[in-house]
Amino acid sequence: MKKEKTKHTQSRGQWASKMGFVLAAAGSAIGLGNIWKFPGKVGLYGGGAFLLCYILIVAFIGFPAMLAELSLGRHTQKNVVGAFTKLRKHWAVAGFINVISPFIIMSYYCIVGGWVLKYIWVYLSGANFGGGADQYQTYFNTFVQQPIEPLLWGVFFLALCVFVVLRGVSGGIEKVSKFLMPCLFILLVAIVVRAVTLPGAMEGVKYMLTVRPEQLSADTVVGAMGQAFFSLSVGMSILVTYGSYVPKEENLAKSAAWICALDTLAAVLAAFAIIPVVFVTLGAEGIGMGGSFAFMALPEVFASLPAGGLIGLAFFLLLFLAALTSAISILEGCVAFVSEEFHLSRVKSTLILLAPLILLGAGYSLSQAADRGINLPWFDFAGGFRMLPMWDVMERFTDNFTIPLGALLVCLFVGWVWGAKNATLEIQSGGMFAFKIHKAWEFIVRFIAPAMILIILFCTIGLGKGLS
Ligand code: PHE
Repeated sequence: MKKEKTKHTQSRGQWASKMGFVLAAAGSAIGLGNIWKFPGKVGLYGGGAFLLCYILIVAFIGFPAMLAELSLGRHTQKNVVGAFTKLRKHWAVAGFINVISPFIIMSYYCIVGGWVLKYIWVYLSGANFGGGADQYQTYFNTFVQQPIEPLLWGVFFLALCVFVVLRGVSGGIEKVSKFLMPCLFILLVAIVVRAVTLPGAMEGVKYMLTVRPEQLSADTVVGAMGQAFFSLSVGMSILVTYGSYVPKEENLAKSAAWICALDTLAAVLAAFAIIPVVFVTLGAEGIGMGGSFAFMALPEVFASLPAGGLIGLAFFLLLFLAALTSAISILEGCVAFVSEEFHLSRVKSTLILLAPLILLGAGYSLSQAADRGINLPWFDFAGGFRMLPMWDVMERFTDNFTIPLGALLVCLFVGWVWGAKNATLEIQSGGMFAFKIHKAWEFIVRFIAPAMILIILFCTIGLGKGLS
């Protein structure tokens, strides 16, 4: 792959190569959302209908919104708050709204990342998941309700992200992504091959490929749109920040198309890896078990397969790689904001962010007992957390409110305030690239995307299912 020379006109980081940028952005997009949430949502919303809506939404709303964010970032060469304020001072609030979601998501992402590390440890050390009926469920429930251990794993996961982010944009994030993303796809394809060749797996494949018209409801469209934004990392400051590290001689539209394609491919492959396996072992009822099923149902499923220990290890390694590259990007979005807006070094900014992230993560971790209706009598100071179903608050507040709102504000700003024509010029690198579909893109960013996002914002008050 050819290295492109980059002119470092300022002290900000820049991607050293086109492939590095696409892989880092795909690494951000491909995360727990693809491997953990997406297959669960396909089940929850009824298979093929959801898949179809999802693909259409990625192409017609997600891709244009992503391009709007990347162009805003590259044009301004700023973090998300700086990007808005550089062009219009009083739009700072829009920038802040875009930083809220990644901050909240980072805190629970690290805790779930910690669970994944713990499972890798269990598989590697050859320890088993206990015994008796429901052993896997009991194991998971007992583990996540502990006050200290899950938190320590979460902090360990966070430390790994900090290590990479502190090494900088091209020296840390880009290097890690270039190595980890191909590993992720190799593991994913290996698991899919195993899954679809199991006897009886075709039932699950059919389930995903059949579009049942009765499932094509508003609920499904709303669910697919929320999932698409989460998965593409749209409306969360990341793409503006990553866009700001892209050199001018890069074709933004092509890169965005690649990122969307890779992200969707990973989600669909993950569904093909998981749903047939669930069909084989648990039957149709296993589908739609919700978010924790990766930890409760899948280890059981893997154990029933030949070489199941190896498949289990491969699956959790996959989940780890996906989670790590996404978490790195989320942290980068926050670090870029703090360091540039408050004129602090990246190290100081990262350290400042750690305390609130760990605190919020601790709240999420401690609320697990509450979510499962368990009382820890000696643990009364967590009473406040126990009252709050943190997962619902965190997932629903971000997925249904701050993420769509962030994306809406970017589209409105780019489409109407900065101006879609100016954004087109940026995407074309001032005429270096033909962006043939620019008329359609401008129309979507100005009218269609905002209208669709407003619909989700209104609908999610009553519609949309959470995974918990
Ligand atoms: N897109 C990532 C996923 O699908 C999650 C993410 C959220 C990444 C916020 C960056 C910012 O898991």
